[in-house]
Amino acid sequence: MAKFDKTSRIGFIGAGGVGGALSVALSKKGYPIAAAASRTFASTEKLAARVKGCKACKTTQEVADRADVVIITTFDGAIGPVASGIRWRPGQGVVHCSGVTGLGVFADAVKQGAVPGALHPLQAFASVDEAVNALPGSTFGIEADGDMREYLKAMTLDLGGRPIFLKAEDRPLYHASVVTLGGLFLAMSGVAADIWKNFGVERNDALKAILPIVRGCVDTLEANGLPGGLAGPYARGDVGTVKKHLDSLKARAPQALPMYAHIALAGMGLAREKGRANPKDLDEIERLLKKCIKENPAA
Ligand SMILES: NC(=O)c1ccc[n+]([C@@H]2O[C@H](COP(=O)([O-])OP(=O)(O)OC[C@H]3O[C@@H](n4cnc5c(N)ncnc54)[C@H](OP(=O)(O)O)[C@@H]3O)[C@@H](O)[C@H]2O)c1
Repeated sequence: MAKFDKTSRIGFIGAGGVGGALSVALSKKGYPIAAAASRTFASTEKLAARVKGCKACKTTQEVADRADVVIITTFDGAIGPVASGIRWRPGQGVVHCSGVTGLGVFADAVKQGAVPGALHPLQAFASVDEAVNALPGSTFGIEADGDMREYLKAMTLDLGGRPIFLKAEDRPLYHASVVTLGGLFLAMSGVAADIWKNFGVERNDALKAILPIVRGCVDTLEANGLPGGLAGPYARGDVGTVKKHLDSLKARAPQALPMYAHIALAGMGLAREKGRANPKDLDEIERLLKKCIKENPAA
């Protein structure tokens, strides 16, 4: 029976944002990062230069040969082909970091006796340094059995993270929820910042103006939960303000109108739950939003 612990040698395949950040963070916590490889050797060398004792390898097989646990941090579509292209030793660990991908992607490796696992850090990995700093306090979604499950849980705790255990069938839904708030929030930021161009403020200057209120919203949400953390014209039932938003977006930033109306409508249940606004005002707001969506369907 395979045993994994803090002395198990780790190899990384895929030297991008997640591979770069996890290898640095794990190395700092005393996990031996023995080897790494990527699609391009330049990426491999960049990762290896930041991680003590890590050998930059030219092939994925060399990484597997040097490691007890291989963590595959390629983009999701390459995980299966990469894992299937390796000769595995019985009892060797193979882990990926995808939110949606199941362990079935490791079928070929498992046939050879490899022990599969998934460790999904619930964090954005745009740059290595920021991601390393953001890992403590982050949740890590784990799918694994037996000793691999205990190993990934211990690894999460060592990184200062919070482990949660997921079933294969729940992972796409879990990931959709995460992307709704994370990835789609970034898209919303772009739409919101671009509105400012209409009154002469460039996108990144607009972001500087908007981000403090985003931080304020996150703090309020953390302090008050849902629906208590809801603020703004919808929580107040401010019909006139909403009408002005819809009219001005329609006239001057029509590309933002469908997103605004759909998200506002999705939040109406929370506004009603909060109970601060007059229900008749919320009915009127809902009517305006539905009318707007009907007249301005998303492109
Ligand atoms: N980004 C996030 O916020 C985030 C958060 C949680 C989990 N994840 C998961 O973490 C994994 C990696 O995501 P990422 O954001 O780090 O992606 P990324 O920045 O695009 O990095 C992927 C790396 O994989 C390498 N690669 C691609 N195909 C390869 C192959 N066939 N063989 C070896 N290396 C290959 C690329 O190499 P080169 O640089 O050499 O071309 C690239 O460095 C994904 O499963 C993703 O779902 C991502």
